[in-house]
Amino acid sequence: MTEPWYKTAVIYAVDVEKFADGDGDGVGDFRGLTQRLDHIAELGATCIWLLPFYPSPRRDNGYDVSDYYGVDPRFGTLNDFAAFVHEAGERGLRVLIDIVLGHTSDTHPWFQAARRDRDSSFRRYYKWSDQPRPVPPGRDIAFPGEEKSAWTYDEVAGAYYYHPFYHFQPDLNMNEPEVQSETLRIIDFWMSFGVSGFRLDAVPLVLGLEGPLDEIIDDPHGVLRSFRAFVDQRRSGSALLGEVDVGPQHLAEYFGDGDELQMLFDFLLNNYMFESLATERSEPIVRALSHLPSTPHGTTWVNFLRNHDELNLGWLMPEDRDLVYEQFAPDEGMRIYDRGIRRRLAPMLGGDARRIETAFSLLFSMPGVPMILYGDEIGMGEDLSRPGRDAVRPIMQWDNGPNGGFSTAPADKCVRAPIESGPFGFRETNVAAQTGVEGSVLESVRDLIKLWRQNPCIGQGTCRVFETEAPEVVAHTTSVQSSSALAVHNLSGREVEAAVTLHELGPFTLSPLHGHADVRPEGVQRHVFRLPPYGYAWYRVVPTNGEET
Ligand code: NOJ
Repeated sequence: MTEPWYKTAVIYAVDVEKFADGDGDGVGDFRGLTQRLDHIAELGATCIWLLPFYPSPRRDNGYDVSDYYGVDPRFGTLNDFAAFVHEAGERGLRVLIDIVLGHTSDTHPWFQAARRDRDSSFRRYYKWSDQPRPVPPGRDIAFPGEEKSAWTYDEVAGAYYYHPFYHFQPDLNMNEPEVQSETLRIIDFWMSFGVSGFRLDAVPLVLGLEGPLDEIIDDPHGVLRSFRAFVDQRRSGSALLGEVDVGPQHLAEYFGDGDELQMLFDFLLNNYMFESLATERSEPIVRALSHLPSTPHGTTWVNFLRNHDELNLGWLMPEDRDLVYEQFAPDEGMRIYDRGIRRRLAPMLGGDARRIETAFSLLFSMPGVPMILYGDEIGMGEDLSRPGRDAVRPIMQWDNGPNGGFSTAPADKCVRAPIESGPFGFRETNVAAQTGVEGSVLESVRDLIKLWRQNPCIGQGTCRVFETEAPEVVAHTTSVQSSSALAVHNLSGREVEAAVTLHELGPFTLSPLHGHADVRPEGVQRHVFRLPPYGYAWYRVVPTNGEET
């Protein structure tokens, strides 16, 4: 049976504003992105996730939307968007767009109407209180240090409004049938441009299942099912990808019976992958995999190393988070919100191309589909001189020319100054410098994507983790029907020998697929792998009794 497209997708996240400037005004735009589509297609990605590109004051990188039906004029027009979707399709690339249903910008006409008139029908779109209830400690605002409370008093409205994020993002009331209808209208509008689905922002908060208010909307999962049914009916095969950062006991609820969200970002595994990378021990990853619920038919995890936000380590115990801080964020200025790190992948891994490659290989080996943040495929760095999470949102580095090839505008007109100095500066780290260069991060990621796409059992089906007798080594298989791939990763900077007993598998031989290890069979199921520092190897498990394992 063929799998739905999103179960074999390689997702590439793009922030239009920072990717490529097509009209020379210093701001990334759809024309620039369209001109750079070949880079994404040649990388091997199959799907682009667009961060919010709507008209917005952009006080939260576009997650403060002031008009759901347009394109920020600085990024182009609806025609430019349509041309982009068309050109992406020509290259076999699907498009998922971010949709922010939890809140609007305070400049949105709905909020402006709501605050001016208690009797306005828009008043019910938001959450008001004359005297907000005290919020239980630790359940308040999303961005501690940047906001003091989830309630702000509005003089014009004469009431407090609720905002779990910033005060300029009043929370929408999804209990209101009109807000649900607005949602479907917005989805309908963008589907007519041929997008293949949506990344839904902050789903548990949208449904009132998380956050300080604790006001669950009526039948939250029924509402999610109705969104999914609408999308399915509009174009079957469209996908909903949820930002659902909840505990493992609640994750499965968002897949429903395969009739709610088809894809969930795996924040839990993300946390534990970083603990493993920092401590050079496999145990955290193995533990995370054992906590994950199984995914219903037609659904999948989306795995990632870094996204456009801080590396939020909220699922780790404080002492384990400290271990990650010690390795990857030794300076206080690299940390944020008392729970995370405002750095990109490559600098955290010391810019070591082998280690970065192994981290990507590990990502690709996990059950689910991979998501790569723009720029991570060349090992870009962060800009810690920028405030907060902005540090991890630099402009794309294409070549060593002015502004790193991002824009022909004078440097002071660019939406961000390029990263100038050091190994992650645009002169050292850029697409042109790595193209065709063996061992570069770009070519390694390309090879891994090729490996992943050519071997449908990688990242799919049943995942089995094996004991390795070497705490630094993760050894696991993923299997679809009778075909299995084995991945062995050495997380440490030392050469390691690891004996692995591939129990539960019948007689087999290992056929090398990618990476490098010396392997010595010891009996039928036991194999000893000698892995170089930060080394990894992939094998196809070939049954010797005539059937694939
Ligand atoms: C989640 C987004 O990933 C983040 O960037 C944003 O600040 C919040 N939602 C609020 O919209």
